[in-house]
Amino acid sequence: MMDWTDRHCRYLHRLLSRRALLYTEMVTAPALVRGGALHLLDHSPEEHPVALQLGGSDPDELARAARLGVEAGYDEINLNCGCPSDRVQSGTFGAVLMTQPERVADCVAAMRAAVEVDVTVKCRIGVDDQDPEVALPAFLEAIAGAGCGRVIIHARKAWLQGLSPKQNRDVPPLDHALVARMKARFPALHVSVNGGIASLDDAAALLGQGLDGVMVGRAAYHQPADILCAADRRIFGQPGPDSTAEGAVRAMLPYIERHLAAGGRLNQVTRHMLGLFAGRPGARGWRRMLSEGATRPGAGPELVEAALGEVMRVAA
Ligand SMILES: Cc1cc2nc3c(=O)[nH]c(=O)nc-3n(C[C@H](O)[C@H](O)[C@H](O)COP(=O)(O)O)c2cc1C
Repeated sequence: MMDWTDRHCRYLHRLLSRRALLYTEMVTAPALVRGGALHLLDHSPEEHPVALQLGGSDPDELARAARLGVEAGYDEINLNCGCPSDRVQSGTFGAVLMTQPERVADCVAAMRAAVEVDVTVKCRIGVDDQDPEVALPAFLEAIAGAGCGRVIIHARKAWLQGLSPKQNRDVPPLDHALVARMKARFPALHVSVNGGIASLDDAAALLGQGLDGVMVGRAAYHQPADILCAADRRIFGQPGPDSTAEGAVRAMLPYIERHLAAGGRLNQVTRHMLGLFAGRPGARGWRRMLSEGATRPGAGPELVEAALGEVMRVAA
């Protein structure tokens, strides 16, 4: 998620779940290939498994960007066909590609030829006045035919005119059932559903309907511990204790020290930690101490330790 799931966020989320697949923000192929912005690929080895999401619509450029991603170490290359923002539309990528399945197929085929790792697609159920019952299977048929074995479907339409990107994440109604029907129709395709999944109970229920995976966006960002701490056990069936928010905070301290030593600012990391205690006693104080203190000059890991101490004191 752009501006949200940067490398610091992903490092934190990986401390909470060993198994969940993490995705980068969308990185545009032109930025990598024409702009040479290779720093956009920076990540920590601890983040694996991690997928690079690309935006673009030119097969050659996407193939070159995919190769750069794999050379940088990413485990999967994902093509964004779901983002409705104006900026993205003007570059002919994102959700508008739902109207051009053949072009997306060409992009997938070019990326598949360029890299060994999985090439996946994230899409909507349709855009504008498309009938999802018709447009979505045609789209899936095209990408599967080009060698995409895995798709993540944000189960609502995008309206390319008239709705803001934020409204396009909330206003068009969700249709999880349509995504489940697509799984039944394309049994060989690995289908994950996305959109409005607010808890592990929601996720487990959708998996129970035959879907292969769930992608959780905003809930995982705002309540990372609720979504991720029990995910390895409940979703992946891994034995052993759940991770904890407290443990993750402690494990972030050396990471924060390294980030500050490299010239970074505390807030760049702690902004992703604000929701760690959401719904628990002490959550408000935690959030306040970090959001007020982390931008002050000289703020460091001791602030995070003090905020954790306060949470523990309230909880005791
Ligand atoms: C701030 C923000 C940025 C996003 N950026 C991306 C992005 O870069 N690529 C993408 O595929 N989806 C992006 N999304 C959409 C989410 O991945 C997801 O499809 C959407 O929020 C619905 O899922 P949710 O209800 O679990 O959040 C973004 C969402 C938000 C809130």
